[in-house]
Amino acid sequence: MENNVFEEMAKRYDTEERIELAKVITKKVRTELENSKSKSLIDYGSGTGLVSLELSDLVDSVLLVDSSMQMLEVAEAKIARQGITNSKILYSDFTQGTPEIKADIVFMSLVLLHIPDTKKILQELFNILNNDGKLIIIDFDKNDKVYHPKVHNGFSHEELKLKLSEAGFRSIEIRTFYHGNSIFMNQDASMFISSSIK
Ligand SMILES: C[S@@+](CC[C@H](N)C(=O)[O-])C[C@H]1O[C@@H](n2cnc3c(N)ncnc32)[C@H](O)[C@@H]1O
Repeated sequence: MENNVFEEMAKRYDTEERIELAKVITKKVRTELENSKSKSLIDYGSGTGLVSLELSDLVDSVLLVDSSMQMLEVAEAKIARQGITNSKILYSDFTQGTPEIKADIVFMSLVLLHIPDTKKILQELFNILNNDGKLIIIDFDKNDKVYHPKVHNGFSHEELKLKLSEAGFRSIEIRTFYHGNSIFMNQDASMFISSSIK
């Protein structure tokens, strides 16, 4: 798996800035998860669980999936330390092969930008959702000030809507909800939340 960057940074991933940004995301996503007490949630690209471990009280179960084992080890230590009983980790990269699992909600925060083939990952996430399941994506709006050979410089709402609908999703809503200073590769940027149904 080609995510060595995250393997290397796992132990120092939870900086004050990332914790602050995760709080903004958590606050927004919690409003999307009202009435989800009986639902299973996959946090795809969970990292150290900064967001989804703050959502675990709202759902029946959380599966933190990541292609970096070291990020997951940090998450697992938090699960144990905080005595969270409904959350587990899974080491996997769905772009290389998707396990036989199903979920009612798939959540992905600041991960889509790191996956080169957007179409492929959206299709895999569609496949693991139960019927009427929900995909929630948090990511950056398209940002011309950002350039990195391995990272998408955000997404335009129209472009992403089209890709979601080609993957089979319906009821697609995308809204910008936050503007921040130096939050995307040291550039000022805005984040969107996308919600769509299988
Ligand atoms: C910027 S971090 C975001 C972590 C977390 N979602 C958050 O909001 O705090 C991106 C995470 O995505 C993971 N990742 C990148 N590509 C992935 C892939 N193809 N499959 C699974 N996880 C991936 C990385 O290992 C890393 O933990």
